[in-house]
Amino acid sequence: MVAVAERRRTYQNRQGPTPRGQQGEPEEAKDVSHAERVRSFVLGHSTQPVLDASANNGAGWNGLTIVKLNKRHLARQRILTGAKRSAASDTFDTLRARMIKALRDNGWSRVAITSPTKGCGKTFTAANLAMSCARQTGLRSVLFDMDFRNPKLAGVLGVRPPGPFGEYLYDIEPPEAHLLRVEDNLAVALNDRAMAEPSDLLADDRTEATIAKMQEALTPDVVMFDMPPMLQFEDVRTFLPRVDAVLVVSGGKTTKAEEIREVERLLDGKVPLLGVVLNMAEGVSGKKGVY
Ligand SMILES: Nc1ncnc2c1ncn2[C@@H]1O[C@H](COP(=O)(O)OP(=O)(O)OP(=O)(O)O)[C@@H](O)[C@H]1O
Ligand SMILES: [Mg+2]
Repeated sequence: MVAVAERRRTYQNRQGPTPRGQQGEPEEAKDVSHAERVRSFVLGHSTQPVLDASANNGAGWNGLTIVKLNKRHLARQRILTGAKRSAASDTFDTLRARMIKALRDNGWSRVAITSPTKGCGKTFTAANLAMSCARQTGLRSVLFDMDFRNPKLAGVLGVRPPGPFGEYLYDIEPPEAHLLRVEDNLAVALNDRAMAEPSDLLADDRTEATIAKMQEALTPDVVMFDMPPMLQFEDVRTFLPRVDAVLVVSGGKTTKAEEIREVERLLDGKVPLLGVVLNMAEGVSGKKGVY
């Protein structure tokens, strides 16, 4: 199902993290605005209170705001959660196991998820893969909505993003102000607005520094990026130097073999192709349409 390429990444010029310990606003003022924002994060009603874990000064994983996802909303979006197993969840768990093995074998952590053209199921795959990672005890994961053309992860998860994503990437906001912990060991960085020309932001050194700083602060095992389609926009190619590997989602009924070859050609010599996921092999209406 998922072939793991042996090729190693050639780009090794990643910048190191920027120094931490920045001076922010006073803790008290930060806590108030933070708590206010937390109240409006979850769309719909939840009987569970939303926990604001900023009490420990916002440091590290335990400083992230906890948001409880609405299971019914996720089910409508076909995002598989919980411990209950099914053929579909097993498929994502297999994909996760192969991805994690490849990452560990090579000392990698960052994976871009893209497709040749739009609508192949990148966000669907990224969200389900992230949930599968969350099912694995002892594995800590972060999922970024890096699709500035069509940011849909927040809607799929049913969570309102805390603020402009660009401000976080430009290092104006700290990780704990932007990342939400939606499962015990899964955090997401969501985007609330599209951008017509995100190349400058994706290429900016501050974006790299922010991601590196997030990794230093939160120590995730895997960082996944839900990205735009590779053949339609330059964004993925611009962002390639920032990732260790790429997972390509192929739309079963729509993606042509030559489009996959074109994606492989664009990646060749730059970043390893982790695998090609055949999604929607039976169309989107069938319950077995996963892979
Ligand atoms: N395997 C699947 N089974 C059922 N529905 C699916 C499957 N994959 C994707 N879908 C549905 O197809 C639609 C498009 O999927 P998705 O938004 O994940 O694609 P995308 O590649 O991220 O699109 P875009 O290029 O616009 O970002 C969504 O409604 C999603 O729920
Ligand atoms: Mg998408």
